[in-house]
Amino acid sequence: MTPVPVAAEKNTKNAAEQTCNLMDTILRKVDPQQPDAAVIRQAADILRAGGLVAFPTETVYGLGGNGLDPEACRSIYLAKGRPSDNPLILHISQLSELRPIVREISQTAQVLMEAFWPGPLTLIFPKTDIVPDAATGGLDTVAVRFPSHPVAMALIRAAGLPIAAPSANLSGKPSPTRAAHVAMDLDGKIGMILDGGAAEWGLESTIVDVSVTPPMILRPGAITKEMMEPLVGKVDVDPAILQKPEEGMQPKAPGMKYTHYAPKAEVYLVRGEQTCEIINRLAKKEQEMGRKVGVLATDERRRGYEADIVLSVGSRNCLEEVGANLFWALREFDRLSIDTVYAETFPIDGEGMAIMNRLQKSAGYRWIEE
Ligand code: TXA
Ligand code: MG
Repeated sequence: MTPVPVAAEKNTKNAAEQTCNLMDTILRKVDPQQPDAAVIRQAADILRAGGLVAFPTETVYGLGGNGLDPEACRSIYLAKGRPSDNPLILHISQLSELRPIVREISQTAQVLMEAFWPGPLTLIFPKTDIVPDAATGGLDTVAVRFPSHPVAMALIRAAGLPIAAPSANLSGKPSPTRAAHVAMDLDGKIGMILDGGAAEWGLESTIVDVSVTPPMILRPGAITKEMMEPLVGKVDVDPAILQKPEEGMQPKAPGMKYTHYAPKAEVYLVRGEQTCEIINRLAKKEQEMGRKVGVLATDERRRGYEADIVLSVGSRNCLEEVGANLFWALREFDRLSIDTVYAETFPIDGEGMAIMNRLQKSAGYRWIEE
């Protein structure tokens, strides 16, 4: 879909954004299918020297550093403004790189790896001693992913290291699905950004804990419960994924407890047959109070809304498209200085689970239902 023209960006930076820019970030375009070997070598040299490189994956852009170097891991936390108890995912580019970093590979893990690696699936294993506490936030498990994006694969292989890579956004912001989003958050704070175009999936990888029986989804993504169960039997879902975190009930992936995916606007989720009517009525009231209103819409309903900005994330019949455009839309509302966003909602099974998990977090679990 074509992004709408946008207004000049407002200067409303938070504390993490205001840290001074310390270096010139090199920005290089790469062919997403056949990246230039010299550019990859330059990026790999930065990683081997302890620096940070943002790179495209098939899910979202990652902020890479040497996953075995505690100093490089600490620089990742610093650049993102990320709480140090939120562990990083180590990225590999061939199966032989897994053994040295994990203590045990269960039968379930084996089956899931064969079916879905390389791809948008992260598995949690017991870790070996060479994985520093700085990468795992002190946990004795490690998250590992084998991405399928040619640029990610080439970079990890050229570096010859497991690459720790959280999403390349400032902590708390929507994950970046384009190099421009990375630059907006991290320009001047990291060594290099590889621009390989828009990410294909647009939502972060599915995380599955395979160190427990039955395996448990800690974060929903492109690889769904429905895709895994025929291969490995029952797969549990961390109940915290789709509920407002209650007192004392913590999600098992530490990162899932933080406010996340949130644009500056207040986001409200709307469901039911009357979605258009409800949104138009509420939008009018907000506008009367001088607030700028956006609607996160779908192709089927986009023309029915009266608001300052209506952004469609795609067709309700193609949830992959909705997932791929969700973070782009949340960031666009920021760029357009929208105060209130009303969002259409989606079924919570299959691919819809990942979308609704991110949407609910961006809305702080605020629902409107009549
Ligand atoms: O698609 C993705 O996974 C992207 C790309 C760049 O690969 N990466 C990504 O990383 O989303 P990040 O750091 O933004 O999210 C990692 C999530 C966090 O919620 C973290 O708490 C969880 O993984 N995690 C990491 N290690 C874990 C562990 N040992 N046990 C449980 N959760 C873990
Ligand atoms: Mg993230």
